[in-house]
Parts: sequence; C-alpha cells; structure tokens
Amino acid sequence: MAGRSATGGYDPSGIDLDEWEILESQLEESIPNYDRVNRLMTFGQDAVWRKNVRNHAESGMKVLEVGCGPGSFAEDIENVDLTCLDPSEEMLKVAKVRVNEARKLRGEGPADYVLAIAESIPLPDNTFDRVFCLFSFRDFQDKRKGLEEILRVLKPGGQLVICDAGKANWLHGLAGRIWMSTVVQWMARYVTKKKDHPWKGLAKTYSHYGTNGYYRKLMREVGFENVQGRLLLPFGMASRFRGHKPND
Ligand SMILES: C[S@@+](CC[C@H](N)C(=O)[O-])C[C@H]1O[C@@H](n2cnc3c(N)ncnc32)[C@H](O)[C@@H]1O
Repeated sequence: MAGRSATGGYDPSGIDLDEWEILESQLEESIPNYDRVNRLMTFGQDAVWRKNVRNHAESGMKVLEVGCGPGSFAEDIENVDLTCLDPSEEMLKVAKVRVNEARKLRGEGPADYVLAIAESIPLPDNTFDRVFCLFSFRDFQDKRKGLEEILRVLKPGGQLVICDAGKANWLHGLAGRIWMSTVVQWMARYVTKKKDHPWKGLAKTYSHYGTNGYYRKLMREVGFENVQGRLLLPFGMASRFRGHKPND
C-alpha cells in the first residue's frame, strides 16, 4: 500500500510481507518468555481478557482461534470442538503439545491444527459458530482480507471476537506507545536477560495499529453486523471487537 514505506512497511490496514516475515521470527523468538512478559506488561490482566473472550463460546460449539500462537488462550477453552490456526510451524508445534495435554486432562479429544494465514484459510465456508483472535489481529498482513476470510468460514449468525492492544484514539495511542517503548522494553529485558529481545520489534505492531473506530468501520465494510469495539475497562490497555455474520 502506498505510504507504508514511510513507516517501515506498516500501516493500520496491514504489514508488508518482508516486514511481516521479520515479525514472525520475532514472535517465534518470544515463545519461551511469551506468557511471562505478557503477564508482567499487563499486570495479569491478559488472563482476565482471555476469560472474557472465552465466555463468548458455549458448550459444543465449533470454534476457530486464528493466530493461536503457543496456545495461551486455546489451552483453557473447554467443551468446544476446537481448531487452532497459525502461520508459524514453531508456534503450532508448541500449541499442539500444550493444548492437547490440557484437553486430555479434561477428558476431551485433541484439537485440530491448521498451518495458514488468516488471509487464506484452507477451510470450508459456514463452518464455525465462533472465531476468536487474541493478540493476532494486529499481526495480520492484510486486515481486510483476514476479516473477509473469517466472515466466510463463520456460520450465518456466528460471531467473531477480537481482543488486542487497545487504541481508543490518537492520544490514548500515544500513551500506549510510550508504555510499549519504555516499561514493556524494561520488563522484556529483565525477563529475557537480553538487550536485543524480540519485544523491541513487537512494539512496532502497536505503533502502527489503528484506532477502535478504524477497525469498527472495516468490520462493517467487510459485512459484519452488530459491530462493537471498545476498550476493556478498568485499565483500557486492550480493546475487544465483536461482530456477527448476517443470517441468510
Ligand atoms: C502474539 S501471538 C498471539 C498468541 C495467542 N493467540 C494468545 O492468546 O496469546 C500472535 C500470533 O499471530 C500469528 N499471526 C501472525 N500473522 C498472522 C496472520 N496473518 N494470520 C494468522 N495468524 C497470524 C503469529 O504467528 C502468532 O503466533
């Protein structure tokens, strides 16, 4: 997209392929410390946000998590027919062990795992009751295409729930950028004991992320209805977006 070169390959609509590939390797590098840094940088709120999203699923539903990463969300979602999708083989490898182990302890069968990007989901139309994206929407190469694909695989009446870093408006975004470029960097350095840790690069995804209004509009344009998107209180560090696929 024109203008992305001025921001190193990023803008609110997506990320250029070469920058996205760098981002993926940083995400893979973060795996050993991923949960610990998340917990620290959100003061433990990430667990509350994950529970909030989980509560949108009901027992027996067919659920897809897009961008499952190492399984931090997927391991705790109970009594659903679960599919985990991620473009990173490394992430899926870790998720598979972790999620299947948790499911086995609950007496559930293994989940399905799909190596793919959100922008090209190799699954049939009208398949899922719920699609969840936790901290992965920010990383999509092409957010419109990803949303179109998610809409396609949802059943009519099915719901998408996205939870990601919050950006209510530019002023809130500025506060978030300061947080990401200072406190989060110190925390990541403390946990990884490395000066050059992956969170240096990951802060870029927040800097160029759009506002809640930007993504509400995009979801409506793609065809979602009942679209909502707001900061999760009381801390306002994350935003949650919801939208339904229209019934035929
Ligand atoms: C920060 S992790 C989120 C992990 C997990 N969902 C959680 O709750 O913490 C982001 C994940 O999104 C994945 N991702 C990046 N680009 C993606 C895309 N275009 N489509 C789907 N997933 C993507 C990454 O590989 C990574 O595993």
